[in-house]
Amino acid sequence: MLTYYKNKRVFLTGHTGFKGTWMTRMLLKAGAIVTGYSLAAPSPSLYELAGFEEFIKTGQLTSVIGDIRNLDALKKAMSDAAPQVVFHLAAQPIVRDSYKDPVYTYETNVMGTVHVMESIRCLLPLAGRKASGGRLICAGARRPGDAWFAPTGTKWRRSEAETGGAPAPDEGYTGKE
Ligand SMILES: NC(=O)c1ccc[n+]([C@@H]2O[C@H](COP(=O)([O-])OP(=O)(O)OC[C@H]3O[C@@H](n4cnc5c(N)ncnc54)[C@H](O)[C@@H]3O)[C@@H](O)[C@H]2O)c1
Repeated sequence: MLTYYKNKRVFLTGHTGFKGTWMTRMLLKAGAIVTGYSLAAPSPSLYELAGFEEFIKTGQLTSVIGDIRNLDALKKAMSDAAPQVVFHLAAQPIVRDSYKDPVYTYETNVMGTVHVMESIRCLLPLAGRKASGGRLICAGARRPGDAWFAPTGTKWRRSEAETGGAPAPDEGYTGKE
């Protein structure tokens, strides 16, 4: 699976978070060209300790500090990155905090996800020129924050596409059925 990501342009929200830091690490290791879009990492944090500076220097990683509630900023960052794959991990994931600040939680988790999908929708003509498939499809969103997208034509195992597992480019499901 990792070979699929070599030289792929990947846009990742929530790259400064727990899951996002690990995902960034794996994508960089796989040779992807990664643009992350998130709020600034707290200090100390896993992101700070991950040693991404060298990847930022070489241009393999672009870190955009921004808010997914800001549609224009998100659209611009995504358009600049011209991604072939989008992972959406940015979220307010703490249940206790959602009771303290439900409005922020809904704005981030619900409208933030809508903004990610809208930014992708606005990219579709661009994807037609720059990506292989020309359409982007969504599979396996178990909850806001867990959605991922890939160009049509990416072959995913049907069971994984349906359950939200990672894409398996070498098998089965083409997204065209
Ligand atoms: N950590 C887990 O064990 C776990 C398990 C299952 C699912 N998840 C899901 O994975 C996702 C990420 O979880 P995590 O543990 O990495 O969370 P985290 O709190 O460590 O990271 C959240 C990320 O989202 C970003 N973010 C938050 N609000 C934002 C906003 N308004 N605009 C832009 N970026 C914003 C933060 O900057 C950070 O990069 C969540 O949807 C969570 O529910 C996490």
